[in-house]
Order: sequence, then C-alpha cells, then structure tokens
Amino acid sequence: MNTPAYHSESPDVSIIEPRHFASLGKAELYELLGHYGVVLLRNCIHNAEDFSAYVKQNSSRLSLDPARVMVGGAAQLVDAGRQAIGLHCENGNSPFWPDITWFYCQEAPRKGSQTTLCDGEKVLAKLSPACRTFFENNPIRYSRTVAGDKWRRLVCHYSPALSDPAAVEIEDLMQIVGDDSQTQISFNPADDSIHYAFSTSAILVSEFSQRPAFANSILGPSFNYEVPVIDTASGLPIPSEFLHEIAEVSAQYTYPVGWRDHDMVMIDNRRVMHGREAIVDERRRIFNALSYR
Ligand SMILES: [Fe+2]
Repeated sequence: MNTPAYHSESPDVSIIEPRHFASLGKAELYELLGHYGVVLLRNCIHNAEDFSAYVKQNSSRLSLDPARVMVGGAAQLVDAGRQAIGLHCENGNSPFWPDITWFYCQEAPRKGSQTTLCDGEKVLAKLSPACRTFFENNPIRYSRTVAGDKWRRLVCHYSPALSDPAAVEIEDLMQIVGDDSQTQISFNPADDSIHYAFSTSAILVSEFSQRPAFANSILGPSFNYEVPVIDTASGLPIPSEFLHEIAEVSAQYTYPVGWRDHDMVMIDNRRVMHGREAIVDERRRIFNALSYR
C-alpha cells in the first residue's frame, strides 16, 4: 500500500485529520488499520453518541464488557481506577475477543495518565528464538471465575431474544460459546458463578494485517474481574525467563497515545496491545467500544 497523504507525525499510527474524515470510507479505514495497526482520528468526533454511531457504522457487530456501563448504545466509559494497567488485548483472555478496540477521548489528561500502545508485530520480531518457539508450541490458557450478574448480562447482549438476566440459563451461555474446543466452562449453582478456561496462542495472525503478532493478555491484570490464572494449555507454568523477556521487549515498543481532546483511536485488537499509565490527572474522560470487523 502507498503511504497515504495524510499519514504524518508518527511511524506507528495513521493519523487522520478532520479535513479527510468525511471522505474516509470503511474499506480505506480497514486498509489503514491493516497497515499500521492503529488509526488515530484527530478532532473528528465530539461526543459519545457520535462515537457510538461511528463504531456501529464501521463494524459488523458490537461486543461489550459486561462489567461496564453502556453509554449511547456502543460506548462505555473507561474504568475510573487510578493504577497502571499492563498491556493486553481487550477481552483477549476470553472467547469474547473483539477484533477492534476503540477509544474516544472527550477530555484529555494534561499530565501523564495516558493510554499506552504496543505493536505485537514488533515485539514478535524482537523475541529470542527460544521464547518465540515456546509460545509457538504452547498455547496459553486463562482461567478464572465470573460472577452470575456478569455472565448473565453478557448472554443478554449476545442473545436478542433474552433481555432479562434473571431468566438466563447456563445452557444459553453454552449455546453462545458453541462448539469451541478452546473454551471449557463449568457452572457452580451454589453461588451462580461460572469458572472458565480459555486456551489460545499468544501469537496470532490478525485478519486486518494477515501477519503474525505477539498479541495476548499475559502482561495485563484484570480490572473488573477476578485475576485469571495464566499457564499453558497443558497446565505448565510459563517459564519466568520468558515472562521477563516479553515484559522487557514489550516495554521497548510501548508508547503513549498522546491524547488531545476529541481524539478517537481504532486499534487492531489481535495485533496491537494496549494498557494505561497510572492516573495522575483527574481531567480524563475516555470512552471505549469493542466490535467485530
Ligand atoms: Fe483495556
């Protein structure tokens, strides 16, 4: 692909200025995402409702995080906690792994408090042969317990016929997950929770780029949920030297978005991981949406 005329400022991100926004169609947007992994649309969107509408217009369907409150149909306000969050693919530790993560920054922090990005293609290219081979040969597994209210809300989102979480049955969840050999679920009627184990490779080929990337949630803690146990699909721990290596290499390629008011970012969620710096500025209003291509 030729470098688009409006690509500027950063080698990592495709930046769209308002004057190009109106003429930017879905096909071109996806092409840019495939090339760069991140598209930053600067000052093109001005409220959460328009953000939701834009996400819907450029996605086949929406996903959601059932632990968050929805605003305007697609957007969810990013969690208010203050601590730093490690690199992860959004919901990349579950079978409900969206293709695209979107952020809309209504009010940018003036100091620190940035969303961070890390291109898994660059990380993969820098891993030692031993580390890369380990992750190529050993799918990793995330397992944890999810409370009843959360899995029930998720079922309602994915099942148009169901709107009352109390009416949801465990079979409804099983039906959504389907015949997925990557996912094992057990239900605990005593407290209405489920326990799941989701196995997947730490190295994925993105549908947008068609190239492999180190894209996973090994380094990202869980905010609204019980922290998952992360090991290999065969039940072995991930060797600590490889955990150190991926943390070190990822850190070399992690950069802040550099938020300005009314920036919107579109991220290939199977290639580019994101995280967050510790929040040191209360002026920060950022929405998130999750969707499929
Ligand atoms: Fe996230």
